Amino acid sequence: MAKEKVTGKRENFVSKFGIIAAAAGSAVGLGNIWRFPYVAGENGGGAFLIIYVIFVTLIGVPAMLSELIIGRRSKSNAVGSFRKLRPGSPWYLVGVMGVLTGFLIFAFYSTVAGWTLHYTYLAIIDAFHGLSGDQLAETFEKFHTSALLPVFWQIIFLILTAAIVIAGIEKGIERYTKILMPILFLILLILVIRAVTLPGAGKGLAFLFKPDFTKVTAKTILEAMGQAFFSLSLGMGVLITYGSYIQKRENLTDVAGEVAFFDTLVAILAGVAIFPAVFAFGLKPEVGPGLAFLTLPGIFQQMPGGYFFAIIFFLLLVVAALTSSISLLEVTVAFLTEEFHLSRKAATIWSSLVVAILGIAATLSFGVLKDFKIWGSTIFDFLDNLTANILLPLGGLFIVIFVGWVMNTRETKAEITNENAMKGRLYGVFLFLIRFVVPVAIALVFLYSIGLIKL
Ligand code: PHE
Repeated sequence: MAKEKVTGKRENFVSKFGIIAAAAGSAVGLGNIWRFPYVAGENGGGAFLIIYVIFVTLIGVPAMLSELIIGRRSKSNAVGSFRKLRPGSPWYLVGVMGVLTGFLIFAFYSTVAGWTLHYTYLAIIDAFHGLSGDQLAETFEKFHTSALLPVFWQIIFLILTAAIVIAGIEKGIERYTKILMPILFLILLILVIRAVTLPGAGKGLAFLFKPDFTKVTAKTILEAMGQAFFSLSLGMGVLITYGSYIQKRENLTDVAGEVAFFDTLVAILAGVAIFPAVFAFGLKPEVGPGLAFLTLPGIFQQMPGGYFFAIIFFLLLVVAALTSSISLLEVTVAFLTEEFHLSRKAATIWSSLVVAILGIAATLSFGVLKDFKIWGSTIFDFLDNLTANILLPLGGLFIVIFVGWVMNTRETKAEITNENAMKGRLYGVFLFLIRFVVPVAIALVFLYSIGLIKL
């Protein structure tokens, strides 16, 4: 399919801050605030954090830069970009896999996002007031295993996402993330200050920052890698799509570095906000996916100003989820509008409907569909594990191989140096990482985790 399609004038991010806000908005999400703390909690805390940070630096940043290069070089969506750069080759299938992965993520993501909306509502009406730990657990259990309410909030969330995406890149995504991201950061800082001044905060901080490597298993390493890909929104074309809206004058290396830094900072801050509180009130860090929903309301109501802090915390989760789901949807919408010439509105509505069907199934898999298992997992767990731990790293693997071995160094260097306007001192390091280090590391983690190799 070598022939280039006639697409209308493509939009761009108009400012550097807009790019960072949108990309960091995609990266920073439930992955940082809901997923990171509970996965770190299940995997022993400090040691997980160190392995995670190593993956972000060594694999995440180069993989992100690779996606940005593909996007900006081709000025096209996740599928069209591969077609444009290597016409007639099967590489576009990596983009197709990305679009499909995006659907799967968005489905279970909207489940949890719906929970955050409901919990915001509960916080506002002060529904946690006076409830014991057991009663709070019961509240969460009852809510997330029921049918109507979680699905209702999930649909509200999908409508909110669709409305922003329909508004377009500059007037929608860029405009909203520019406002929402600084608010998000500010609220998190308030929470961190609140948490570290709780009595007994030191224990939680020690859990997060003092590594215990005896807890590290093959699963820990796979989960740390999966979490890095998930949290940075890598491996499915978000950064290809957003990269295609970045103007030629911007420095892509800076963008990748700043987004990864900011994303990691937010994850660690979320941990700093959550773990001291968990320990201060005698809770267990390894409670799992319920960590935010099951324990935090209890923590909030035991602290001064808890009513207020609960509301802003769950609002923070909603905002974080929204700026990420926007990017998930945008990958599909860009693909459909450019490859199939659908209008932006039609593309958004149709993809949202498909996500809704799959997403409702994921939501119901905690309740009426809980006995429906795919290879032993519920629909929700299956989607979560399959995407984060397998599909995203696999997509990332293909993407770095494409940039490192299929594109030539003239093309990639031109993107890194903005057609030689800049020095690109780190180009050699980048090339070495994406050609050798990243592919080998991803492959090793896969092989290690399925038990084919032993360390
Ligand atoms: N990075 C987002 C988060 O941390 C989730 C996400 C994954 C978004 C993949 C887009 C693509 O919540």
